[in-house]
Amino acid sequence: MFENVTPRPDDPIMAIMNQCKSDPRPHKIDLGVGVYKDDNGHTTILNSVKLAEKICNQEETTKSYIGTIGNQDFCKNILQFIFEKDNPIFQEDRICSAQSAGGSGALRIGAELIKIASPEATVWTSTPTWANHIPLVSSVGLKMKQYPYYNKSTLQVDFEEMLSHLSKKAKPGDIILLHGCCHNPTGADLSDSQWDRLAIFLNENELYPFIDLAYFGLGKGMKEDTYGLRKVTQICPEVLLAASCSKNFALYRDRTGFVAAICKDQEKTQMIKVLFGAIQRKLISMPPDHGAAIVNKIFTDHKLFDVWEMELNEMRNRIKNLRLKLSEAFNSQGASNIANAIINQNGMFSMLPLNAQQAESLRSNHAIYLMNSGRINIAGANTKNINRVAEAVLKVI
Ligand code: LMR
Repeated sequence: MFENVTPRPDDPIMAIMNQCKSDPRPHKIDLGVGVYKDDNGHTTILNSVKLAEKICNQEETTKSYIGTIGNQDFCKNILQFIFEKDNPIFQEDRICSAQSAGGSGALRIGAELIKIASPEATVWTSTPTWANHIPLVSSVGLKMKQYPYYNKSTLQVDFEEMLSHLSKKAKPGDIILLHGCCHNPTGADLSDSQWDRLAIFLNENELYPFIDLAYFGLGKGMKEDTYGLRKVTQICPEVLLAASCSKNFALYRDRTGFVAAICKDQEKTQMIKVLFGAIQRKLISMPPDHGAAIVNKIFTDHKLFDVWEMELNEMRNRIKNLRLKLSEAFNSQGASNIANAIINQNGMFSMLPLNAQQAESLRSNHAIYLMNSGRINIAGANTKNINRVAEAVLKVI
């Protein structure tokens, strides 16, 4: 049965994560996988999550199936928080959702839906994009292309180039996969005014936004990080959303996320909801409830919600503080272009102007683990070793 199986390289992010784990050097710095760490290098369980989990365990009376679209209270509460309860999409019954196995599960359900609804559409992703976007979406059989996004010389978003490319090459009905915030891998986000222009551009060109919201809350704040999503929803008639609670609730291994569709009318919304269930059934039958139950408990208990908000603010402020320190370290060593980029970017990631060889030299000669693309997860550093990151990077450039 396995005769024809040949060796394959590991996923690049997982490969760096494993390489770092097996490095015995005590001074190693893990800037690889996108996981938040505190100043002691731990990815702790949030107190709000621990408390909610305890309550859930006490209250839970059954482990019976919930259904193919999973925990609908969880989806409703988090969506009403993002869009605000009085948003017409709720009153007009224009939004439906399904709980998913993490943000990746949501992306896959979204891609399967596109394959059913618009099999000829091309899905466009940014250059560069998250390493798993293309495998996740293309494996349903959809065509994929890339639009220019991050300019590795200016270390900024090339918004005009992005719009100009899409206006020439994308066809009406195509899907534009966008990072809602904290762009992975660059940390370079669209400004609010760019989202305003993009929403109008997409609508005028009959292009459909598929928003990946994986790091919301860790950039500027929950409201700020979901501005783009709300803007496209206000302007475009149909929107797909894939969201993750892995990072903002630190629920990584509990695989907690959801997919949502904003549709033209109530009738289509009902049809898409049924399709979400059918797709999930075919893929994994039903999503795991544990993480969703915890998040839902936090959203429905004011005290727990306050604890979670504080913890989220703490994570975000730590990342911002590390950004500031890293930026100062680059500045003090004369690399003001890198310093400026880092301070203006959001979330865990930044992309340094490094090639694969330089990244390899950082790993082997300096025990600093980062992606070959130059992506660093700033939250993997701490206040004691952040200066060493800047020094080592400037040594290999
Ligand atoms: C990352 O980009 O490092 C994270 O989203 C983890 C992953 O699954 O790739």
